[in-house]
Amino acid sequence: MNSKPIKGIVLAGGLGTRLRPLTRITNKHLLHVYDKPMIFYPIQTLVDAGIRDVLVVTGGTNAGDFLRLLGNGKDFGLDHMNYAYQEGEGGIAQALGLAEPFAKGHRVVVILGDNLVEKGIADGVRKFEKMEDGALVYLKQMKDARPYGVPVFKNGQIIGIEEKPKKPKSNFAVIGIYMYDAHVFDLIRTLKPSGRGELEVTDLNNAYLKRGKLRHEILKGWWADAGESHEGLLEANQMVAGSLKRK
Ligand code: G1P
Repeated sequence: MNSKPIKGIVLAGGLGTRLRPLTRITNKHLLHVYDKPMIFYPIQTLVDAGIRDVLVVTGGTNAGDFLRLLGNGKDFGLDHMNYAYQEGEGGIAQALGLAEPFAKGHRVVVILGDNLVEKGIADGVRKFEKMEDGALVYLKQMKDARPYGVPVFKNGQIIGIEEKPKKPKSNFAVIGIYMYDAHVFDLIRTLKPSGRGELEVTDLNNAYLKRGKLRHEILKGWWADAGESHEGLLEANQMVAGSLKRK
């Protein structure tokens, strides 16, 4: 088992085309979700799971705003924050590859900057810590799984993951929280761009699966993919507001 501390990576690049015109002049992860900028939530999720060393990967013309907003991570009780810059639109797995100088030799927990969870991921991180090697993904049951990575099951085991299938073979989504061993950067180098010209995180997860090294956990509590659509953004606001009212 790798005893080095797990590193946290928040992916916050992309053009946010599905949220236009809100994203015409800013990065979608800077939009508000209830009382905070969207990116505050995934960073807090990592910190709540005990991760102290966090890298934000961003890109585009608003990258400097992340530095002004997050600084050295004081809002999260951190004393340091790391940043990387993604040029162009190379996909989630390419963005993750940029974290190699930061995380080489460490295991990583990766969270997409628009993914919000109600109950945190501490359980999954503890389970992942006990794993010898491999990857762990979180699943959530959905009414409509088409906009997501969707697992295909056989006898209760995942045998493949399909990215945004027109006809999903299950009603689960692979959510945007991924845990990988230190081989992840070598595996990213084996990936080929997909039809939309990106290195897909689903292909990375399938690469672990092919090696028999992919485990999964079902997420407890709500999950919001705030960047998926205007509806998704609205739901994220409502879910956060609802949770705060229940406190
Ligand atoms: C990405 C992944 C997809 C995953 C989703 C979760 O899609 O490609 O597999 O289910 O995040 O948020 P995107 O939202 O970037 O289109």
